[in-house]
Amino acid sequence: MNVLLIGSGGREHALAWRLSASPMLSKLYCAPGNGGMSQYAECVALNGENAAEVLAFCRTKAVDFVVIGPEAPLVAGLADVLTAAQIKHFGPSKAAAQLEGSKGFTKDLCREFSIPTGAYGRFTDKASAKAYLAKQTGRVVVKADGLAAGKGVIIPETRAEAEAGIDACFDGTFGAAGAEVVIEAFLEGEEASFFALSDGVAVVAFGAAQDHKRVGDGDTGLNTGGMGAYSPAPVMTDAMVARTMDEIIRPTVAGMAKRGTPFRGVLFAGLMIGTDGPRLIEYNTRFGDPECQVLMMRLKSDLLTVLLAVAEGRVGALDLRWSDDVALTVVMAANGYPGTPQKGTEIKGLEAAATVEGVHVFHAGTVRDGDRVLANGGRVLNVTARGQTVKEAQARAYAAVDKIDWPGGFCRRDIGWRALTREDKQV
Ligand code: AMP
Ligand code: GLY
Repeated sequence: MNVLLIGSGGREHALAWRLSASPMLSKLYCAPGNGGMSQYAECVALNGENAAEVLAFCRTKAVDFVVIGPEAPLVAGLADVLTAAQIKHFGPSKAAAQLEGSKGFTKDLCREFSIPTGAYGRFTDKASAKAYLAKQTGRVVVKADGLAAGKGVIIPETRAEAEAGIDACFDGTFGAAGAEVVIEAFLEGEEASFFALSDGVAVVAFGAAQDHKRVGDGDTGLNTGGMGAYSPAPVMTDAMVARTMDEIIRPTVAGMAKRGTPFRGVLFAGLMIGTDGPRLIEYNTRFGDPECQVLMMRLKSDLLTVLLAVAEGRVGALDLRWSDDVALTVVMAANGYPGTPQKGTEIKGLEAAATVEGVHVFHAGTVRDGDRVLANGGRVLNVTARGQTVKEAQARAYAAVDKIDWPGGFCRRDIGWRALTREDKQV
């Protein structure tokens, strides 16, 4: 079967790696892909957000199945165009992608179907947002409603900062995403990224991971798209997974179906695990990046079979198999990230890094220039390792990082610290 994968990040490199191993695959195209994906796939200069362009390509190249990696094409409605053209695809409709595209939409769904989340209000003007804020007694979080590439969340320390956040949203700091604002209660606890696959009716858990959002060691500095992750997430015990499925995931899938907008794809729940159990922070309607990289290291089942089952309504019959290993990934970013990253610096030592046992280096933002690999984005490499313990996976990942010769980049040196603390206590 011919497959087109939309996207260019480390998430898509990991998906391409697993798709390319499928016995069902004839040809893999990646649009636009990156300097690492070209070893398994033909990278094509297609704009995933331009559905007409994607459709024309599918027809010319006899593409049987489209896997949509990032959120922007989903929210723009690429899946709907493919449905109308009867081309199989992995990724939800525009209506179902509202779970990621509008934070207020998700909060209203939670209210309608009694899904545990923080108390909230939705606002389209400064005065009513500030009047709501004045009535709150606890800490709040201020969010731009729409897609803001992970930047539209303000966690204020003071009331004055909360007011400034409201002003920033309505004054256009986040563009159209900030035309509506959600103010919600600050949730206490430990965060986890939880994944579930649904074909609109049936739903199955697809693993958990923990991300590291801040740019600096010790969870300090600016927020990023994610500086590293590991899976499994120790906080997601079997009991916590069962509660998350019962209290959050199943009611969401049932609620979306009841509304006539069934969710088909991967539901990525950002959870806060508190003393009273799991609460939803937000939904994404795609795999996490870098969470996907660690999930793909642990998945034993054939990925193409799994994604096709989602597209064809066979999730109920899926038999998922996972490795017992821990997987851990360290993101190497270009100097300047998460501000303006320096582009074009040369990366050496990738072959040496790949020789470390259990290690796989995914490219997230690279281009090839002849034999040279150059940085071409903010997050550039995901140095990923398997191990029997977090400690072993972490040691292997950093051993590989240390073989990479790239003065133009940096990484956190403490990925996995939270899980490592737990592991140490158990010994
Ligand atoms: P988001 O872009 O919605 O994932 O938010 C970015 C980060 O802000 C999350 O990963 C959390 O660390 C934090 N955050 C968002 N909403 C809340 C909340 N209601 N309570 C506590 N932390 C939050
Ligand atoms: N790593 C978080 C995300 O993909 O949104």
